[in-house]
Amino acid sequence: MFTSRGPTPRELAVQALSSTERGYDLLAPKFDRSPFRTPDRFLSATAEALRPLGPFDAGLDVCCGTGAGVSALLPLCRERVTGVDFSAGMLAVAAAVPAGRAEGPAVDWVRADARALPFTERHDLAVSFGAFGHFLPAERPALFAGVHRALRPGGLFAFPIGAPQPVRSPWHWAMLGFDGVMRVRNALWRPPFVMYYRTFGLAAVRDDLADAGFAVRLLPLEEFGRRPDGSPNWRLVVARKT
Ligand SMILES: C[S@@+](CC[C@H](N)C(=O)[O-])C[C@H]1O[C@@H](n2cnc3c(N)ncnc32)[C@H](O)[C@@H]1O
Repeated sequence: MFTSRGPTPRELAVQALSSTERGYDLLAPKFDRSPFRTPDRFLSATAEALRPLGPFDAGLDVCCGTGAGVSALLPLCRERVTGVDFSAGMLAVAAAVPAGRAEGPAVDWVRADARALPFTERHDLAVSFGAFGHFLPAERPALFAGVHRALRPGGLFAFPIGAPQPVRSPWHWAMLGFDGVMRVRNALWRPPFVMYYRTFGLAAVRDDLADAGFAVRLLPLEEFGRRPDGSPNWRLVVARKT
């Protein structure tokens, strides 16, 4: 939730009128006190679902921001965890957190665009949290190809995905409204700030992952409950590099 120590409405407006990268540079000092950081319960649910699929040596958090996913990877990985993001401001905040990991895996932070990831067969687990709204559907093939290239054969790419909101839910209309405002903003204003809530549907994402060379399965994240039709509110997409 928004708090008095988080970003002000004016700061959010300035950020939203910047490019995506610059917007996050500006938001970085207050990001961890904003509702945009992935809540710990998503990180721990993901880590618990991945633990039996390990052990893992080297982990990668794609669009790591201030390091939420890196913290989830630390107990899962034995050798190294890498956070990659294109915002220098977010990486600076991430790197400033006291390590306190003398005996854990090494941590490194890499500044790069996730649409052109600079890794080749270095990782056996990649995760991403809260960032896919920043990629247009046409950009997903480059994103997924880069993750695929970064993984060793048999490596996993995992991320939580929520079920679509029912039409009668206020969230459905709030997201629809937000995306509409962003489309108008991006039609009228340069540089664009790419952030849409409704562009990352499971069926299309599965197809794109398969096209990139992944075998996909879905694990229910039971702690987030189920919908009236019995389907999970949240699932973990687990895509294996084939
Ligand atoms: C909402 S934040 C999520 C941060 C973190 N994963 C979390 O869950 O708290 C989205 C992050 O994606 C990064 N991002 C957006 N587009 C990117 C791109 N093309 N390449 C690299 N990072 C990107 C932003 O800089 C930002 O740090």
